[in-house]
Amino acid sequence: MVRLSTVAFGLLAGLANGVAAQSTTTSGVVDDTGLSGDVLVGFPTVNVTAMIASAENQLGVNGTVTDNLPPDYDTPGTVVKARDLDFLDLMKRNALGGVLGSIACLALQIGFGSSKVAMQGSSNYNNWNNPSFWSATTYMTPTCVFRPTSANDVSLAIRIIVLCQSQFNIVGGGHSAIKGWANVEDGVLIIMAGMTGVTYGSVNNVAVAKVPAGERWGSTFTQLDSKNLMALGGRMSTVGVPGLTLGGGISYLSNQYGFVTDQVENFEVVLSNGLIVEANKNTNPDLFKALKGGSANFGIVTRFDLRTFPTNGIYSGQLMFTQTDFSKLYNFTYGYHTAGALSDVTTHVISAFVYVGGYGHLAAFTAFRNIASATPGPVLQPLLDINPSVTANAGLAVRPYGQQCLILGGGDITGLRQDMRDFSSYISASMYQDMWNIWNTNVASKFANVAGFQGTIAFQPVTTTNIAAGKAAGGNSLGLDNNSGTMAIINLTHQWSNAGDDAAILAALDSTLAQLIAYTKTKNIFHPFFYLNYARKQDNPIGSYGSASVANLRSVSRKYDSLQVFQKLVPGGFKIPS
Ligand SMILES: Cc1cc2nc3c(=O)[nH]c(=O)nc-3n(C[C@H](O)[C@H](O)[C@H](O)COP(=O)(O)OP(=O)(O)OC[C@H]3O[C@@H](n4cnc5c(N)ncnc54)[C@H](O)[C@@H]3O)c2cc1C
Ligand SMILES: *[C@@H]1O[C@H](CO)[C@@H](O)[C@H](O)[C@H]1NC(C)=O
Ligand SMILES: *[C@@H]1O[C@H](CO)[C@@H](O)[C@H](O)[C@H]1NC(C)=O
Ligand SMILES: *[C@@H]1O[C@H](CO)[C@@H](O)[C@H](O)[C@H]1NC(C)=O
Ligand SMILES: *[C@@H]1O[C@H](CO)[C@@H](O)[C@H](O)[C@H]1NC(C)=O
Ligand SMILES: *[C@@H]1O[C@H](CO)[C@@H](O)[C@H](O)[C@H]1NC(C)=O
Repeated sequence: MVRLSTVAFGLLAGLANGVAAQSTTTSGVVDDTGLSGDVLVGFPTVNVTAMIASAENQLGVNGTVTDNLPPDYDTPGTVVKARDLDFLDLMKRNALGGVLGSIACLALQIGFGSSKVAMQGSSNYNNWNNPSFWSATTYMTPTCVFRPTSANDVSLAIRIIVLCQSQFNIVGGGHSAIKGWANVEDGVLIIMAGMTGVTYGSVNNVAVAKVPAGERWGSTFTQLDSKNLMALGGRMSTVGVPGLTLGGGISYLSNQYGFVTDQVENFEVVLSNGLIVEANKNTNPDLFKALKGGSANFGIVTRFDLRTFPTNGIYSGQLMFTQTDFSKLYNFTYGYHTAGALSDVTTHVISAFVYVGGYGHLAAFTAFRNIASATPGPVLQPLLDINPSVTANAGLAVRPYGQQCLILGGGDITGLRQDMRDFSSYISASMYQDMWNIWNTNVASKFANVAGFQGTIAFQPVTTTNIAAGKAAGGNSLGLDNNSGTMAIINLTHQWSNAGDDAAILAALDSTLAQLIAYTKTKNIFHPFFYLNYARKQDNPIGSYGSASVANLRSVSRKYDSLQVFQKLVPGGFKIPS
């Protein structure tokens, strides 16, 4: 593949300075499929064709892209038209290898300069690339990384990338543990982290926090705390807003208000042709619903407008128990899943059973109640009565909402080797103990001496109230119905230190997951749902939403991404099954 020389950087520095990005937005641009939105006019002195031509010239590959561009891309602000580009010629594109990524990267650097575009070998590249990712198993070497600071930046960049037919991917908080899901080898990695700063407003007469896609939950909620507001979101501070929300999102408030995505009032999205559109119940409502569970298949989301709720604080904390309490904890969790979570929807409990290599077994239960006083109520009281043997963070306390997220995220470590996977199940009294046994026999007890080994099996209810709240808020694409009783998402998270241990651990986890799913079938508690945000690469979470949802997602994809860029130029991520 083509690597860009440092000589090229020197030559480009001057050019980049001469092409200051001017963000003049034109409203009401209509593309050739009839969609309308805003588009950046910017770069008034250099058009996209000229930028790409200049990049080709620098690389000595004149005409590779520009020979195939129709003349009207000379006009600044032109959106990419579906009819103009032949994305079906994958063979031709593959034959060009990495050169398309190199042309796109150089064109981006000509346009945006090195404050936003970093080539391999530069210090920005090293500072931005791997540190964007949670798990060391997901590190890759994109041709360049692009760090936009506005939707306009994203709009212009995607037009350049798409015209060059370069591969690309998008990373938000980088907490996907699957290699290539938020990263790319030959092509442009778009890092959302430069887009931050929560603002407030209203959409459809609903009060919202406008959260740019570079935010993480800890920072978002800390900003909301200062206004005595809360919103649905992730439970650990380090996780990114975009990936979690587009995959559904389980929140402390989910029993009460549904999935995180259910309480999004509006998305700002950059489509593959460069249009910047809003998606809410009145504008592009089909796209709005598709984004609620459909992940990175429709556009680059640049802002999430989350419904806010007033708060004066919540009651929460983490309780640690030793193995002697496990049978009581299984019983509590069963009672919570079948009754407690429904009778007090303001509560939330994560039942996590942990094995720490070199230490042993323990349980870490996160408990939450949406109430600004130290009253556990009848639902959480039985958990406190089990008398936690070890208390972390002084147990439960009244705190600002965002504090709980900071506490739980405080122990999150980046740069280890990580695996996440999950499956779903209906509920039975004996399943907690039985599933723990399967996991302990096949995984926990096997890797006690592996460097840095730690594993968790966690049980998390998805109640009928959670699903009904989502329906009441307008519906999502997850395909769950609230008539079949509470279900559980069971997730397995494992971490270790050395790549040399990958194969043995992953093989044991594959076998364990198969045994756990087989167990649910034997016991008649099988549920086909795979929660996308924890799913393993070879599982098919979008397929598990059911054929009606999949058909809808496919038609929305054809309408809003008529070039099928997100199916063809983004190599990773969960795609819409055909
Ligand atoms: C420690 C930890 C705690 C977690 N806690 C929770 C929890 O409480 N609740 C829960 O539901 N899940 C939780 N998760 C799972 C989490 O939802 C997923 O890992 C999710 O992918 C994280 O989002 P991200 O932005 O960090 O991910 P990334 O890895 O950055 O992205 C995930 C996917 O989204 C795409 N994407 C990213 N940004 C954009 C964008 N702007 N537009 C379009 N597509 C985009 C990426 O390309 C990728 O396909 C947790 C995970 C971890 C590791
Ligand atoms: C854009 O650039 C192309 C290629 O360099 C050039 O031929 C064209 O005249 C330019 N268009 C405008 C409007 O400046
Ligand atoms: C590439 O095109 C530029 C003008 O755009 C020209 O100056 C240069 O000589 C060309 N290079 C080759 C190898 O054709
Ligand atoms: C099991 O939980 C129920 C509440 O769901 C409680 O009434 C009962 O006492 C518990 N049993 C044991 C043995 O802990
Ligand atoms: C998955 O497990 C982790 C603990 O490893 C927990 O924090 C998280 O909430 C769990 N999520 C679900 C959906 O069960
Ligand atoms: C399912 O949700 C709808 C509201 O969206 C509600 O009318 C219905 O009662 C719920 N059913 C159950 C079993 O919870």
